[in-house]
Amino acid sequence: MSKNQNIQWFPGHMTKTKRKIQSSLKLIDVVVEIIDARIPISSSNPDLAEIIQNKPKLVLLNKCDKANKSANQEWVNYYAKKGIKALPVDCKTGRGLNKFIPSVREILSDKFEAQKNKGIKNPILRLMIVGIPNVGKSSFINRVSKQSRAKVEDRPGVTRGNQWYTISNDLEMLDTPGVLWPKFEDEKVGLHLAFTGAVKDQVIDIELLAIDFLDAMLKNITPQFLERFKLKEADLDGVQAYELLEIIGRKRGMLISGGEIDTERAANLVMDEYRDGKFGNITLEFPEE
Ligand code: G4P
Repeated sequence: MSKNQNIQWFPGHMTKTKRKIQSSLKLIDVVVEIIDARIPISSSNPDLAEIIQNKPKLVLLNKCDKANKSANQEWVNYYAKKGIKALPVDCKTGRGLNKFIPSVREILSDKFEAQKNKGIKNPILRLMIVGIPNVGKSSFINRVSKQSRAKVEDRPGVTRGNQWYTISNDLEMLDTPGVLWPKFEDEKVGLHLAFTGAVKDQVIDIELLAIDFLDAMLKNITPQFLERFKLKEADLDGVQAYELLEIIGRKRGMLISGGEIDTERAANLVMDEYRDGKFGNITLEFPEE
C-alpha cells in the first residue's frame, strides 16, 4: 500500500471516498475502525457514524504500545458505555490481536446464528478496515490476513473486482481499506496529528505544539519526564504549560540576549525528546474531553 500521509483532502475527494465506503458497506457485516490510542479523538473521523449508519463497528486502539496504559483502559470503558467494543492493540508486534477474531465473532454472533438458522452450513461474514492515513491499516492487514487472498467467487453480493483476505474459517476482510480524512479544520486536531507524525511536512508552530504537548503532560506527568529535567512533582504545582516551557529552557541554558529564554529552542527540544520516546508512553486525549 502506498504511503499516503501527505494526502491533501478536498471536498471532492471526501465525497468520492464516502461513496466508495458506502458502496462497500453493502458487502460487509462489520466495520473495523483503526484509531491511534494516543489521540483517539483526533485520529477518528467525525463523519464515520453517518457514513456507516447502523453497521456494527469494532474499534482498534492501535499503537497502544506508545500510549498510557490506564488511558487505554479509560478509552475501552468509554466505548463500552456507548455499546461499542474497543481493543487496545499493537499492530507492529501483534500484541492484543489475539482478541480480534473472538471480538468480531462476538459482535456478529446473532448474524452467524441467523445464517445457520437459514440452513447455511458454514457462514462466512465479512469486514472492512477504515482509518485515517498512517494509523496502521497496512500493518493490521499484514498481521491478520492469511497468506493467500480468498478466491473470488460468484457469491451473491460479491462483485468481481473485490478481493477478500481470509482471516479465519468464517471471516473475510476486504483487501482495500477505507482511507478516512481527519477533521483538519480543528487546530487541535492538526497539532495532535503532527505530534504523532500522522501528518508530516506541515508548517506548524512549534511553540504552540510544545505548549499543547506540555499541557497534556501536566495532566499526566511521567517519571521519565521529571527525571529528564530534574524536576519534582511539587515543582509543577499550579504551573501552566508556557511556564513549564520556560522552566525547561532555563534548565537547559537556552537563553537569548538580555537573559530571555529561547522558548522556540526549548519547544524544539521538548518535541524531539517526546518523539524519541524519552518521556515514556503518553496519551494526549482523554474521554472526558
Ligand atoms: P496506514 O496503512 O494506515 O497508512 O499505516 P501503516 O500500517 O503504514 O503504519 C504507519 C506507521 O505506523 C508505520 O511506521 C508502522 O510501522 C507504524 N505502526 C503501525 N502500527 C503500530 C503500532 O501498533 N505500534 C507502533 N509503535 N507503530 C505502529 P513507519 O515509520 O512508516 O515504518 P516502520 O518504522 O515500521 O518501518
